[in-house]
Amino acid sequence: MLLPFFQWMQDLAFSAYFLNSVWPTPIVQCIHLVSVAVFAGAVLLVDLRLLGTGLTMATIPQVARAAQPWLVWSFVVLVMTGIPQMASTATKQYYSPFFWWKMQAVLLGLVVTFLIRRHIASKEEGYYGPVWPKVVGVTSIALWTSVTIGARLIGLLS
Ligand code: HEM
Repeated sequence: MLLPFFQWMQDLAFSAYFLNSVWPTPIVQCIHLVSVAVFAGAVLLVDLRLLGTGLTMATIPQVARAAQPWLVWSFVVLVMTGIPQMASTATKQYYSPFFWWKMQAVLLGLVVTFLIRRHIASKEEGYYGPVWPKVVGVTSIALWTSVTIGARLIGLLS
């Protein structure tokens, strides 16, 4: 169903320019990977705090508030640098099961991070009992890890 859209992206003049020039791809990939590092750091600070470790000198809402702008802006940069990479290799991405694995994990990760975890991390420790914050922290780590594994497998196996 999405194949015509991916073919349209592949046929854009922009995609040909991006693929046939020397610098755009490595520069955009570097920015994508630096943003992955910032995003992973912002995710982990909160997840580890939910698991009862890491920045225990601050409360959970304090850690979550401090990490939020890094989380949001690094994700914005990930999307902005992900789209040109996706467009310029659109047919490869379309036929890669790892691309779809990554996108589904990104969607789930967004729901867990920006809806469920945000809600849990806005309350003081103990409000949701000892178990739920840990379940959410582990789930968030697992989902974002699976995004990065899926992403790397696109390059390795597609
Ligand atoms: C919706 C936003 C995103 C889009 C459209 C996107 C798209 C892409 C594309 C097309 C590639 C190149 C894959 C290839 O052909 O080798 C890539 C690489 C990668 N992305 Fe993303 N991405 C997005 C978000 C993310 C997020 C949220 C993470 C991690 C938290 C991430 C981590 C990576 C990693 C680790 C690579 C592999 C780089 C490499 O192998 O050199 N991406 N992304």
